[in-house]
Amino acid sequence: MARYSWTMSSNTDRYAFLPGAAQYPTIVAGDGVFLIADDGRRILDAAGGAIVGNIGWGRTEVAAAAAAVMSMGYVVPLWPTPSRLALRDELVQHWLPEGFNHVFFTSGGSESTDSAIRLARAYQVAKGRDSRWKVLGRHPSYHGMTTGTMAVASHSARQKGYEPLLLPFPKVPWDDAEQVLKVIEQEDPATIAGFIVEPITGAAGACLTASDEYWQVVTDACREHDILLIADEVMTGYGRTGLNFGHQHFPLVPDVIVGGKGLGGGYVPLGAVAARDEVVDTLRGSGFMYFTFTGNDGACAAGAKVLEIMRREHLVERAASTGAHLGQRLRDEFGQHPAVADIRGRGMFYGLELHCSRDAVVQAAMERDMWVYPAGSGPVADAVMVAPPFVITDAEIELLVATLRAAIDAVYTG
Ligand SMILES: Cc1ncc(COP(=O)(O)O)c(C=O)c1O
Repeated sequence: MARYSWTMSSNTDRYAFLPGAAQYPTIVAGDGVFLIADDGRRILDAAGGAIVGNIGWGRTEVAAAAAAVMSMGYVVPLWPTPSRLALRDELVQHWLPEGFNHVFFTSGGSESTDSAIRLARAYQVAKGRDSRWKVLGRHPSYHGMTTGTMAVASHSARQKGYEPLLLPFPKVPWDDAEQVLKVIEQEDPATIAGFIVEPITGAAGACLTASDEYWQVVTDACREHDILLIADEVMTGYGRTGLNFGHQHFPLVPDVIVGGKGLGGGYVPLGAVAARDEVVDTLRGSGFMYFTFTGNDGACAAGAKVLEIMRREHLVERAASTGAHLGQRLRDEFGQHPAVADIRGRGMFYGLELHCSRDAVVQAAMERDMWVYPAGSGPVADAVMVAPPFVITDAEIELLVATLRAAIDAVYTG
């Protein structure tokens, strides 16, 4: 990505892990949908960071909830604590579909998707099917940056150079149900442990959405062959698409639901893997190794507060209604724009596929004090994602649309 010339805060050179990396402003505070830089500039966060922020920034209530438990210190993950129990109860009682009464906590998306891959294998081994190790992934897709999650995904830019480290997990197309069935047969169901899917494709596809028919075929095939169906809801979960989980828009019925990002609202590193009771029962007594920071108390307390705020302020409903308005305004403004190939998504989750450089658009937006998220891989060459915190107002939507228009107009030369 290009170096931002519009700002050269003295702190950025000393922060960058890699020499020559892009330069960004130093952020010192947050306020609703705005990030506030050390020079006082207010940057409209039109992507909630990395599609993370749902309740918006500057919520001291979340920090207070975490602070209240953090003085206790560390407790090994297998022991219950009040904040672990409270988050588990919040999830089971108010968020997860019926029959998902077991949750494994992690420190983010990659740890969660990686754990789900491990869970699929453990489930099959517990059933005596040692030959099942493959986890199907879709093309394009993104599931994280551990070597396991890189292997199961299809995001060429993020995999490049690491190929020898990655297990050869089979890939199926994101939209072709017949091809899915063909790959399952070719690979032999007796070798397949799981199938991981993003209900709406995020970073790699900028909101590519498969048909209901596709999801029905995927669900039926997984049931028929007892392939564990994993919904990676790291981006689409916790209200982002206007329902609790993205899979709920489709006839997609997962066995495992993976979450991260919005679960902690961006305030803490937190992820969760929930599985159907039948799946967890299969593993009874076998053990499932945790991470040192599984169920970190500060993270659990903050996560429970984020979810409570979302319920109290009806923010999932707001993501649906205000999100529909955002989608309409994007379609009004860019539907006929020659630089925009497609506008797709729902709730507070939109992708604009572009006929011009996404990095140039991101930079042009930054020059106008707005952040949008660069996306795309494989069939989606250039795209940006618009996914603001759910608290965005109508006036802020107008500012977002006008700024994005100015950025794209500045980049696109026809
Ligand atoms: C669908 C999906 N899964 C997994 C991940 C990995 O999450 P994290 O970056 O928190 O490790 C991401 C991150 O963008 C994602 O979008």
